[in-house]
Amino acid sequence: MASKLSFLGFAGSLRQDSFNRAILRAAQELVPSGAELRIFDLTGIPPFNQDLENQPVAEVKEFKAAIRAADALLIATPEYNYSIPGVLKNALDCASRPYGDNALDGKPLAIMGASVGMLGTARAQYHLRQCCVFLNMYPLNRPEVMVPFAQEKIDEQGRLADVKTREKIAELLAALILWTRRLQPG
Ligand SMILES: Cc1cc2nc3c(=O)[nH]c(=O)nc-3n(C[C@H](O)[C@H](O)[C@H](O)COP(=O)(O)O)c2cc1C
Repeated sequence: MASKLSFLGFAGSLRQDSFNRAILRAAQELVPSGAELRIFDLTGIPPFNQDLENQPVAEVKEFKAAIRAADALLIATPEYNYSIPGVLKNALDCASRPYGDNALDGKPLAIMGASVGMLGTARAQYHLRQCCVFLNMYPLNRPEVMVPFAQEKIDEQGRLADVKTREKIAELLAALILWTRRLQPG
């Protein structure tokens, strides 16, 4: 039997009641038995400063090690001003440096996102896919999980209550398992 895959998830929001953190927690509940999902909190990642890229702080070292230890990544991104939040872009920048030590290189990736708007982070997700080109990550094409009007789907306790969205996330995770296995050498 194939061994369990290990997924690492992070959300591009530091907000306590973040909808994107909420859908990531839902993903942790919904992950199929062939994988497990660890969540990494980006709170401790400092603003990237290229002068210091060869002496990363402990949080960046830990983040890069967690990425490297994972078979695949799951990113839950908000949409800020039609793009990904600076917090997420900064974390990806930190993980990709110094040049030649890109922890994201070759990683399979699934993307999802929740917003209060009607397009459910579509524009941010396509910007994220553009970043994946230079990062040399392998984002899964489908299903696209875009959660519009998130405030109507996530309850006061921060639980994703919407059944259809839960099904979509479960579908995404199942597809990520197949995608990761397909990309594994041998
Ligand atoms: C600086 C900023 C810019 C935003 N821009 C957009 C946007 O372009 N599109 C959108 O749908 N929502 C936008 N929003 C609203 C977010 O969808 C909403 O704040 C969402 O809850 C953020 O995700 P979170 O709950 O995970 O923190 C913006 C919010 C902020 C704070």
